[in-house]
Amino acid sequence: MRGKLVVGNWKMNGGLRQNDALLGDLRAAWTAPPGRQLAVCVPYPYLWQAQAALSGSAIAWGAQSVSEHAGGAFTGEVSAAMVAEFGCRYAIVGHSERRALFGEADAAVAAKAVAALAAGMTPIVCVGETLGEREAGATETVVLRQLDAVIAAVAMQLAALVVAYEPVWAIGTGRTATPEQAEAVHGAIRGAILERYGRDRADAVRIIYGGSVNDENVDSLVSKPDIDGALVGGASLKADSFARIVRARTR
Ligand code: 13P
Repeated sequence: MRGKLVVGNWKMNGGLRQNDALLGDLRAAWTAPPGRQLAVCVPYPYLWQAQAALSGSAIAWGAQSVSEHAGGAFTGEVSAAMVAEFGCRYAIVGHSERRALFGEADAAVAAKAVAALAAGMTPIVCVGETLGEREAGATETVVLRQLDAVIAAVAMQLAALVVAYEPVWAIGTGRTATPEQAEAVHGAIRGAILERYGRDRADAVRIIYGGSVNDENVDSLVSKPDIDGALVGGASLKADSFARIVRARTR
């Protein structure tokens, strides 16, 4: 069955010296029990540092985005093949900050997921509604629309995705979705996959939750049947809080 996965998303934080300390502390703190996986997604320039610090450990690393393009005249872009050369197992695609601040639309997110898969990585596909969309009762419609675009593009490789449900109103706000709110959306996502692609794929896809996850709320979230782990922003930047999160009930 699906194991639990906890992923730290450093966002645009870090520095050579502090990364050394954080990665070293994480490595020292973490031994992986069966069925649990841990990864950190770091800024591009630090991928080599994550690779050097974490190679041979049970902690994987990844990028926070990849270009939808394979290569060429795309100044400032970084391709999936490039980050894969640094041993990335994961690439986040379609984070709400990328969608809202950098204009990434569903089609681009889908192309990025395809690029990540083609480079041998697992895309972590972020979906989530804004507060206005939730209040308008449009949560499921929005989330399933975002996901459909990716699923249509990756087709048979659906089971290789990780889906991250990150309600935009819960990101960096300290306002977490309740376990019941999160489970309702996770269940809807899995239900939609089940209906269209069958039980095997629905059972295989990992759906993790993100949005103000910390060491106090993680247990109640990941104990829900359809919540397969967490995507952690702020609380992944301190080894002690992140270690407490990954040791929580992620089994
Ligand atoms: P926070 O955990 O800081 O709310 O961020 C969540 C997130 O966006 C992870 O990708």
